[in-house]
Amino acid sequence: MNIYTTPAFPTLIHEVPLPCFNLIADQLVKDILEYKDNNPGVQKSNMGGYQSNDIFWRDEKFEEYFDYFDLYIKSAITSILDTNVEIQNAWFNVNQKDQYNFPHIHPGTVYACVLWVKIPKNPGLIWFQNHTSKSASDMVSVFLKNNFQDEFNSGTQMSFEPEAGNIIMFPGYLEHHVECTDDEEDRISIAFNYA
Ligand SMILES: [Fe+2]
Repeated sequence: MNIYTTPAFPTLIHEVPLPCFNLIADQLVKDILEYKDNNPGVQKSNMGGYQSNDIFWRDEKFEEYFDYFDLYIKSAITSILDTNVEIQNAWFNVNQKDQYNFPHIHPGTVYACVLWVKIPKNPGLIWFQNHTSKSASDMVSVFLKNNFQDEFNSGTQMSFEPEAGNIIMFPGYLEHHVECTDDEEDRISIAFNYA
C-alpha cells in the first residue's frame, strides 16, 4: 500500500555549534563556578543543583562572553526569522548527580536557547514534549507507530543529547525538561531568552 505523508506545521528545533568554544570553555567554567560560590541561587526549574539569578550576565566578568554569545545567537535567529529579537534574560544551571530541571516552558519568549558549557560523560538528555499531544483531542501522537515517530518526530516526546559548545534553540512555548545526570561531575548550561 502506498502511504504519502506530509508533516504539517512542524515545530522547529535548531542546533548551532558555537565557533571557537574550546578557546573559552575552561575560563568560562571557572568564572561560572566562582559566581556560583559568591551568589545565592534561585529556585525555578531546578530540582537540586544551582540555578543563578537572571541578571548574572550583566556582571562585568561576563560582558565579553555575552557580547560574543549574543552576536552569534542573534545572527543565527535572524537567519531563521524575518524579525529582530533581543536578549531578555539569561541564567546558568549547575547540576550534579541526581539533580535535574523539571518540565517548564519559557512564556513570552520567541526563542529559548541553551548553550551546553560543561557536559559530563552521562549527562542526561533534554526532552521536548509534543505540544499537540497535550491536547486531549490528539490521539494520533499517542498511538503513532515507531517507524512514523522515528521519521517525523511526531510521537509524544523526543530528546537531544547535550554536547559542550552546542547551542540548542527552540520556541519558548515548547515544554521541556532535562534529565538528571548520572555522573559525579558538574553539568553546566546557560539558558537565554530572546523576544
Ligand atoms: Fe528551559
